[in-house]
Amino acid sequence: MSLLLTGIGELVTNATGSPDLVGSINDAALAVDEGTIVWFGQASDLPDDLRDSDTLDCEGRAVIPGFVDCHTHLVFAGDRADEFARRLGGESYEDILAAGGGIHSTVAATAAAPTLELSRLSTDRALRMLGHGTTTVEIKSGYGLETQAEVRMLEVAAGIGSATPLDVVTTFLGAHVVPTATTSEDYVRLIVDEMLPACAPLAQSCDVFCDEGAFSVDEARTILMAARHAGLELRLHAEQLAHTGATQLAAELGAASADHLDNATAADAAALAAAGTVGVLLPGASLGQAPAPARLLAEAGVTLAVATDCNPGTSNVESMPLIVALAVHEMGLSPAQATWAATRGGATALGLDDRGHVSAGAVADLVVLDAPSHVDLSYRPGSVEPWRVLKAGVVL
Ligand code: NIG
Ligand code: FE
Repeated sequence: MSLLLTGIGELVTNATGSPDLVGSINDAALAVDEGTIVWFGQASDLPDDLRDSDTLDCEGRAVIPGFVDCHTHLVFAGDRADEFARRLGGESYEDILAAGGGIHSTVAATAAAPTLELSRLSTDRALRMLGHGTTTVEIKSGYGLETQAEVRMLEVAAGIGSATPLDVVTTFLGAHVVPTATTSEDYVRLIVDEMLPACAPLAQSCDVFCDEGAFSVDEARTILMAARHAGLELRLHAEQLAHTGATQLAAELGAASADHLDNATAADAAALAAAGTVGVLLPGASLGQAPAPARLLAEAGVTLAVATDCNPGTSNVESMPLIVALAVHEMGLSPAQATWAATRGGATALGLDDRGHVSAGAVADLVVLDAPSHVDLSYRPGSVEPWRVLKAGVVL
């Protein structure tokens, strides 16, 4: 299975050390063999032996690495449109959650859905993401909050990886909120003693919602230390609703990522940069509030990713092109920073070195944008979608 892409107006390589960050090559060609990139460069330099491969003429369009959506909660049933409208009317996320709504209502709707139905809803969501150019997706549990229900979520998530071309990376988020009928002390003990041992074999990472109304920094530390012991990478929902010190904990533990960061400070940025923890920005979840200080984080040297946070409460977003546009318009990233963060940044957050960039030997996950440049993603927000998506060299 070999394929040649010609007529590439702009090839975004994300090559390390590029002065323009995204390592653009104009008038490019790219060759794929057996699912990996074997050659790329200026079309005029194309070696003769590659010229007789099957060809896809991109007709001047931009080619970028497939989007790596490194933070989603896409396995859920039900919807919370009514709550969304109430929040726009002035009610707070925290108050709705404390009154038994919010995450609790999605936990109830998810529990009520038979597995086949939960799987169908979630797979449809993932396929729409693929249509928007996402080729690798991280999926968290966290709408189960009981051992078997968390296991079921992780199994449904893994099933999406088998049933679709998408690569799926799973994260155990049993510590999403404390179930209404229990105390946080008892629930943290249940997570450590029972849920983690059952869920760790089904997940690559463990995440904790460390915030006001959810888990404290000390509770998060207890859970994450146990998760590390179980062999998992660590992530944190940090400084989303309030500033709690979760980012400093992420840095202290050498977490793979600290996500949200809406209320992060300059000291938090310095700690993330020093620890090499990726800062994951979620502009879909920041709508209607002050966005994360993206430029401060970038200037402090934090490696940034952007992701959808796809969930029914704070960010019912499936499209990475929309997220790139929001990261530019709402958070002040440059088009190059936002594009890098949506591709190589996401891959870095997930510890995947073989994707998110165009290099000989990298996985041929590619998006041909229906536009001449990656800049169009934010210049024409909402209008630029993939023309073709390639997963491991196969045109879908
Ligand atoms: O990333 N903050 C915690 N978790 C999700 C929201 C989940 C929900 O409201 O259902 C988030 O924003
Ligand atoms: Fe989230």
